[in-house]
Amino acid sequence: MQNLKLNNGVSIPEIGFGTWQTPDGETAVRAVKTALEYGYTHIDTAACYENEASVGHAVRESGIPREKLFITTKLWNTERGYDSALKAFAASLQKLQLEYIDLYLIHWPDNKNPEPNIASWKAFEKLYKEGLIKALGVSNFQPRHLRPLLDMAEIKPAVNQIEYHPGYRQEETVEFCRKHDILVEAWSPLGCGRILQDSNLRRIAQKYNKSIAQLCLRWCRQNGTLPLPKSVTPERIKENLRVFDFEISAEDMQYINDLPQFGWSGLEPDKVDF
Ligand SMILES: NC(=O)c1ccc[n+]([C@@H]2O[C@H](COP(=O)([O-])OP(=O)(O)OC[C@H]3O[C@@H](n4cnc5c(N)ncnc54)[C@H](OP(=O)(O)O)[C@@H]3O)[C@@H](O)[C@H]2O)c1
Repeated sequence: MQNLKLNNGVSIPEIGFGTWQTPDGETAVRAVKTALEYGYTHIDTAACYENEASVGHAVRESGIPREKLFITTKLWNTERGYDSALKAFAASLQKLQLEYIDLYLIHWPDNKNPEPNIASWKAFEKLYKEGLIKALGVSNFQPRHLRPLLDMAEIKPAVNQIEYHPGYRQEETVEFCRKHDILVEAWSPLGCGRILQDSNLRRIAQKYNKSIAQLCLRWCRQNGTLPLPKSVTPERIKENLRVFDFEISAEDMQYINDLPQFGWSGLEPDKVDF
């Protein structure tokens, strides 16, 4: 596995381990420890997943030096604003029991008013300057949410984490991010399991002697996005890292890119209200 470079020069491992819906406690500790043993060095959590304490616990128990790991967490929607974001960040750090966070994201944009996004961002910039966050980013931001932020930001977002998998590519957002040197991270790169029975994907995966999950993750990488597969199952955790020993042909990439929409979560940032 290689590292990619963010727009501020920070290195980020090209696959991250997802933890949404991984229950706090023994399950999360075991899943994250297993992932670290198998070679993941990049873990994606969020305040609203309510498993930061377990992620931190697994990181400490792994014995891996902190600087060799890349940990992401996110500001939840109820904590938008300057003071609330500072407090929420301190609470995340406390739960994770870490000295700093590698990447801190605004989890969802305020879709009615850019002001709360901007106020949160000001807090992010303060924490970045203090060295408590190594890179700043957003999640589920579309160009109309990103533009006002880019207009005022002293430190540009380095990452936008969005839903991205075969059958749901958010082309306009991805193109906007590419132009602004913002790395796109792919959440639900396996469509949260919804696309893993698809017969078109199965046919292509079989050509390469790979699983559909491996095909999806490789497809993300070849399209320049950074996938965050989640699993609590050791064999799958391992399988999802074995994606660097094959290459999807240009023709098959095009075929997957052109598949009609399927497997979408239904979460449209401008309609989400949580
Ligand atoms: N920023 C956001 O708003 C946002 C939203 C959603 C997700 N995310 C992030 O993105 C991560 C990934 O997204 P996700 O959790 O929605 O879904 P995902 O990674 O696309 O899919 C996870 C599902 O696929 C199963 N699975 C994993 N590997 C498999 C394999 N090799 N073969 C068969 N099944 C497999 C898992 O089952 P088991 O666990 O039972 O093995 C689980 O049911 C999240 O965990 C989170 O970190 C962010």
